[in-house]
Amino acid sequence: MGKHCPRWTSGARRPLLSWALIALLSFVAAGPVVLAEAIVFHVANRCPFPVWPASAPNTGHPVLAGGGFLVPPGKSRRVVAPATWNGRFWARTGCNFTANGGTGAAACLTGDCEGRLACNGSVGTPPATLVEVSLHADPSKGSSYDVSLVDGYNLPVAVSAKPATGNKCAIAGCAKDVNAVCPPELQVTAATGGGAKAATVVACKSACLAFGLDAFCCRGAYATPAACRGSVYSRLFKDACPAYYSYAYDTTAATATGWGDEEPDGGRAGAALM
Ligand SMILES: *[C@@H]1O[C@H](CO)[C@@H](O)[C@H](O)[C@H]1NC(C)=O
Ligand SMILES: *[C@@H]1O[C@H](CO)[C@@H](O)[C@H](O)[C@H]1NC(C)=O
Repeated sequence: MGKHCPRWTSGARRPLLSWALIALLSFVAAGPVVLAEAIVFHVANRCPFPVWPASAPNTGHPVLAGGGFLVPPGKSRRVVAPATWNGRFWARTGCNFTANGGTGAAACLTGDCEGRLACNGSVGTPPATLVEVSLHADPSKGSSYDVSLVDGYNLPVAVSAKPATGNKCAIAGCAKDVNAVCPPELQVTAATGGGAKAATVVACKSACLAFGLDAFCCRGAYATPAACRGSVYSRLFKDACPAYYSYAYDTTAATATGWGDEEPDGGRAGAALM
């Protein structure tokens, strides 16, 4: 069942949508206020290491902030979007944009987009935790956002909106580090850290991404919510991050609908397929 926010009825000013990458069990800070025709995303890095957030628009929507940038630990960046923007955000880890010599080879351990700092509209290489955003200028159309692990996980993400009404518009981070509980068959590993030879789990594939089977991907004979009911793998994701989409027809995920009418329970399952 989705979490629904009260309808936003004020006139010209729109609520601010902020989202933040967070270290486990810490929480999101609020940002300043917004203009009439734009939404401001505050992308904050609460991790103790640098991340390179990125965004990609859906077809027909503009690229924001070049599509990617660095946010050092403890810092944040404002990204201004049109009030009707649709697309996704994710964050890249372990990047070095000079090491590939401009060849287009991957420059990041997770979430890479053709080896570039500015993704310029390209989507990232899964697995990466996705924030999916669908905004409408007309509040009655029902803007929404959610966090999806349908393609897998790399970092915990929390999302909140301003003005907040209680915590109803917030999507919480994770109760557990998915990388720490990721089974071997889903792990993405890399040699990270000074001199440490042991491989570190840097991301965790979804079962759909790892095995490509219709039953995990909700395709073919499994293309309905009744037929695609999750798996031992999606339940592992759900247990770690209860508010996120753990597979395509996960109807228990939180979809924050900050500006519109409430939608029927489960009606936002398709959002995970953006
Ligand atoms: C990035 O890669 C270049 C070339 O391999 C290397 O010289 C540099 O030290 C790397 N930077 C970091 C921060 O690791
Ligand atoms: C970004 O993408 C647009 C549209 O595909 C293209 O015209 C432009 O040259 C690209 N910019 C860079 C810096 O690659």
